[in-house]
Amino acid sequence: MAEVATLELASVSRQYGDDAPIHALKNVDLRVERGEWVAIEGPSGSGKSTLLNILGCLDRPTSGSYLFKGLDVGALGDRERGGLRSRHIAFVFQSFHLLAHRSVVENVMLAEVYQRGSRRERRARAEAILDRVGLSHRFDYLPSKLSGGERQRVAIARALLGSRDVLLCDEPTGNLDTATGLAIMELLAGLHAEGLTIVMITHSPELAMIASRQVRIVDGELSDGSSAHGLSDYAPLEAWVPLEAADGGADGWPTDSLRLVGPLIEGTRVREGPAHGADVESSTGSDAGGS
Ligand SMILES: Nc1ncnc2c1ncn2[C@@H]1O[C@H](COP(=O)(O)OP(=O)(O)O)[C@@H](O)[C@H]1O
Ligand SMILES: [Mg+2]
Repeated sequence: MAEVATLELASVSRQYGDDAPIHALKNVDLRVERGEWVAIEGPSGSGKSTLLNILGCLDRPTSGSYLFKGLDVGALGDRERGGLRSRHIAFVFQSFHLLAHRSVVENVMLAEVYQRGSRRERRARAEAILDRVGLSHRFDYLPSKLSGGERQRVAIARALLGSRDVLLCDEPTGNLDTATGLAIMELLAGLHAEGLTIVMITHSPELAMIASRQVRIVDGELSDGSSAHGLSDYAPLEAWVPLEAADGGADGWPTDSLRLVGPLIEGTRVREGPAHGADVESSTGSDAGGS
């Protein structure tokens, strides 16, 4: 028998408003297996955030069912759903939501402020997770002293504190330049390789291709690009080579910026989509500024 899916949506719809309802999701079916890395790609307003908020137990479907590791989330009360979210689900957004006057390690420790255990134990856990995202040299920095990519690493570390099963990311590279965005993707690739289940929203088809599976959403309808294989299935690092000094400001990488290898991307691409680049996200993070 098949293993129970980590996340399973069946015929999920989400409608906003009653008079002139917006059908943000229409009969969405989505099954995410343990250890998968799924990219959800689609234009602005297509329902990506609505979908992720439902997966993250931040919102409820208007109709349809959601099973989290076989557990019927729709049957849970608000408190139970909150508990499920805080124990199992890590959420990362486009903007980093760090407290400006707290150090890196304190920002991460605050995620466990209601947990038992001494401050010293909490600090040790925060340092361990920061180490895992490559920030052991930044524990006592204020966020304002970090690059955008480093801030997103802090946000990822904070989200992953505790033993989370699933990482949900809503445009995690949306506020970052190309090279820094790729470095964040490489961090996600490493977490995926360690067994974390990841669902990531992007409106970049190129970044979506790095995940192990791609699904596309348009006008609230999901289509599964199941014939596609992500680059991470067979060429995690060969796909990342320094080609040209591009945007600059890469963190975690040597001097040159990185560009995905064109032919590799072209060769694995499933769709020749219409002008994805014309789509501009209206909301930008408030803390998008440079370092
Ligand atoms: N809280 C809300 N109230 C009313 N409409 C909403 C709300 N959130 C999203 N929408 C609408 O639902 C649709 C999908 O939005 P969203 O999930 O944010 O898309 P995306 O993340 O792909 O840009 C859009 O038409 C958006 O305007
Ligand atoms: Mg969105």
